Amino acid sequence: MSSETGILDGTRTTGVAGSPPRAGEDRAAPLDLLADFPAIPSDWAYLDTAATAQKPQPVIDAITRGYDTAYATVHRGVYARSADMTIAYEAARARVARFIGARTADEIVFTRGATEGINLVAQTWGQTNLKAGDRILLSTLEHHSNIVPWQLLRDRTGIAIDVCPLTPDGRIDLDAAEAMLTPAHKLVAFAHVSNVLGSVLDAKRAARIAHAVGAKLLLDGCQAVPRLGVDVAALDCDFYVFSGHKLYGPTGIGILWARAELLEAMPPWHGGGAMIDRVTFAATTYAPPPARFEAGTPHIVGALGLHAAIDYVDGIGLAAIHAYEAALVRLTREALGGMNSVRLFGPEDSAGIVSFAVEGVHPHDVGTILDEERVAIRAGHHCAQPLMDHLGVPATARASFGVYNGENDVAALVRGIERVRRIFG
Ligand SMILES: Cc1ncc(COP(=O)(O)O)c(C=O)c1O
Repeated sequence: MSSETGILDGTRTTGVAGSPPRAGEDRAAPLDLLADFPAIPSDWAYLDTAATAQKPQPVIDAITRGYDTAYATVHRGVYARSADMTIAYEAARARVARFIGARTADEIVFTRGATEGINLVAQTWGQTNLKAGDRILLSTLEHHSNIVPWQLLRDRTGIAIDVCPLTPDGRIDLDAAEAMLTPAHKLVAFAHVSNVLGSVLDAKRAARIAHAVGAKLLLDGCQAVPRLGVDVAALDCDFYVFSGHKLYGPTGIGILWARAELLEAMPPWHGGGAMIDRVTFAATTYAPPPARFEAGTPHIVGALGLHAAIDYVDGIGLAAIHAYEAALVRLTREALGGMNSVRLFGPEDSAGIVSFAVEGVHPHDVGTILDEERVAIRAGHHCAQPLMDHLGVPATARASFGVYNGENDVAALVRGIERVRRIFG
């Protein structure tokens, strides 16, 4: 499919969210939200949302308000402003809990992001519960954030790491996982959605097979939370992490959710203010979760921004976002799949992410030429070098969608790639 077919030449519009496309429908009914994103000029196709999402005005407003009229510290102040800020900060925590189906706000730990959340689990739960001879199961497609913290733990404890292979179309192979899992496995840690392939994990099945051998399931939800409705209770996982900045919120704030009983039993990791009960030089006792895991002055305004981001995304509806991005993915895959020098990676039904390679052209050159065409994609290993090794490439080009994208962005991408092919013959 090319732009001449007329399918890709939608124009950018602005306004209130429109109706989502019906399942199976090829055209992407516009969400019409570009006007909410002041950092995206109308002639720029921003296709790097998997790296970080642009921010809608309500998030920018919440951050600005947080610093200009509402700013104060939390938890410690005896004055009204600080008490108000504490209420707002804790309201953000409660909002996150509702958003992902946590039982209580106390199951929500604010972190700096998904990376910190996984390190926290590795260094507290992992360090306490895992010993030499225990095994954990990761997959070939994991982000380095879900590999390296476990290697650090392995070096300290002597645990073994097994790697679940992928299906030919780039999903975590749960049949293989089931066959690999043994009672020695104490943890399965998988990406809910791959940041390179967009493949969506059957998380409920992953939970079933992990629990069948007594292992816990950690889901890296970085790419899932902006694209799928996530309900940790329905998924039946044990740990869930994500980053605020990929969910249209600020950088520097993220979430670790864990079952209350797991958090209760986990020792602290960072020591300092806010995480204590009583400190003496002889001994210190610690606050209950989540405060136990939040040493120091937190990212107060980040929490307010995340609250606004969740309100924004929920206002559109995750089902509508998912359907819309799926339609854009279909258009992109059809258009690129029709070009004989383009290789597509990942499954047909990838969530919002299309990785590809143009034969004979380094992805960085693809990215540079696309940038000249005002199309921003990501080119590189996407912090997934083991996956690149598996795919047999040093890097891929990756287009990833957000609520602000339209068919015209797909058309711009296709035009840009046609230029890449002309330049490189
Ligand atoms: C699947 C996945 N996991 C983890 C991360 C790490 O997120 P952060 O750098 O925000 O901690 C990313 C970011 O690209 C990701 O896509």
